[in-house]
Amino acid sequence: MSEEATPRAEKPRKFQAIKGVRDLLPPETALWNNVEQTANSVFSTYGFGEIRVPIFEPTELFARSIGVDTDVVGKEMYSFDDRDETSVSLRPEATASVCRAYIEHGMQQLPQPVKLYYTGPMFRRERPQKGRYRQFYQIGAEILGGQDAPAIDAEVIEMVMTFFDKLNLQGVELSINSIGHNAPNCRPAYVELLRAELTKVKDKLGPDSQRRIDTNPLRVLDSKAENEQAIIATLPHIADHLCAECAAHYAAVKRQLELRGVIYQENWRLVRGLDYYMRTTFEITAEGLGSQNAVCGGGRYDGLVELLGGPPTKGIGFAIGEDRLILSLQEQARQAESANAASGASPGKSPVTSHHSLDVYVAWMGEKTYATAVRAAKDLRQAGFSVELPPTEQKFGKALGQADKLDAKFALILGEDEVTEGLWTLKTLDDGAQVKLPEPALIEHLCNSLNARKPL
Ligand code: HAM
Repeated sequence: MSEEATPRAEKPRKFQAIKGVRDLLPPETALWNNVEQTANSVFSTYGFGEIRVPIFEPTELFARSIGVDTDVVGKEMYSFDDRDETSVSLRPEATASVCRAYIEHGMQQLPQPVKLYYTGPMFRRERPQKGRYRQFYQIGAEILGGQDAPAIDAEVIEMVMTFFDKLNLQGVELSINSIGHNAPNCRPAYVELLRAELTKVKDKLGPDSQRRIDTNPLRVLDSKAENEQAIIATLPHIADHLCAECAAHYAAVKRQLELRGVIYQENWRLVRGLDYYMRTTFEITAEGLGSQNAVCGGGRYDGLVELLGGPPTKGIGFAIGEDRLILSLQEQARQAESANAASGASPGKSPVTSHHSLDVYVAWMGEKTYATAVRAAKDLRQAGFSVELPPTEQKFGKALGQADKLDAKFALILGEDEVTEGLWTLKTLDDGAQVKLPEPALIEHLCNSLNARKPL
């Protein structure tokens, strides 16, 4: 390149994450891990196995499952044409994919029902705010096949509640409803009644609800618009218009929840925003989230597998908004900390506040000690401890300062004397106590002090 053609050095552009998406960083990611591991262990006690489905699928899969008139499909999907010009979309949820996978892998041949859970990112182009992101994470579970026994609805709800309980999530409230099924004497009759009632008060409703009178009157019940609340309160309740089978199913689900000691409230306006639901719907809210306080939503969707070309199959499941769950746990921990600070009590270790902490900082001094330091770090890591080994030599004061900054529990001090004598110095950083020990005794001492972590 000639000199004239050399572009003038410009300051390179600094990139930022796209609006509505974010990085998750340590130490917070430790909490995410903890939550996911807890889900894994609770869900496996209920017989669920993990499924991993693709991040993108044919747009048609979501359109057909969730419904073309829903906000999710109509406004919020990230869709693009692949090179062969088929439209694909980033998954806005995973129920459709799990049903697709059930059919694709002939899972109807397995003992029924098939119980699957998943964790991972979902994508919806919503207006970002606290607890609402364009890339967010769900932990979900689906039961496919077998019966539509109300005990299954109740058990899946019991499982989420047990999971929240294990995490000690506060202020958890479960709302349930039944939206009947798609037979002429059930939901469609109610929808017509609702449409007629809404048409009478049409001019008092906002543009969104007016539009929904035609497209999906049930969704008007979801409206948060202040001026529509009094009108909605006078509308007929679906529970009074269910067919006999759906009414009996709903009554049995409630009895089953009571049997399991699961506390619920009924919310006749809980219709959910995705078209595949029938009969049981539920939502769970938690504290500290402001307006986006739903941490979990789910329901029954018998018929979805069939709609996707599979055999008639029962289905029920839920998805937890992991971002919101974490926000709520963090808010809860903050409140507990300020309450402790006010009362002078010492803060307890909670999975939310305890962060990655370092067990041992290896303070090596002098070229000759380096090989020993490398070996010590390797052995200690092998024994299961987290170890920081500075890559270059440091002065003693600087090394201890660094160990302090990193919040290490111990500093292993390796000077030339220590290495020659084979007696290493271990300093407890909290109280400054020091012991001199040969290597094997030192590992044993660490094991005892860090209590519980046994050599691998
Ligand atoms: P959903 O109600 O659309 O249901 O989403 C479930 C949960 O995901 C919500 O309660 C919320 O916690 C979280 N969530 C949704 N959108 C966002 C967002 N933009 N930002 C942060 N969190 C969000 C479903 O997705 C169904 N697939 C659930 C299901 C599974 N039903 C049966 N099986």
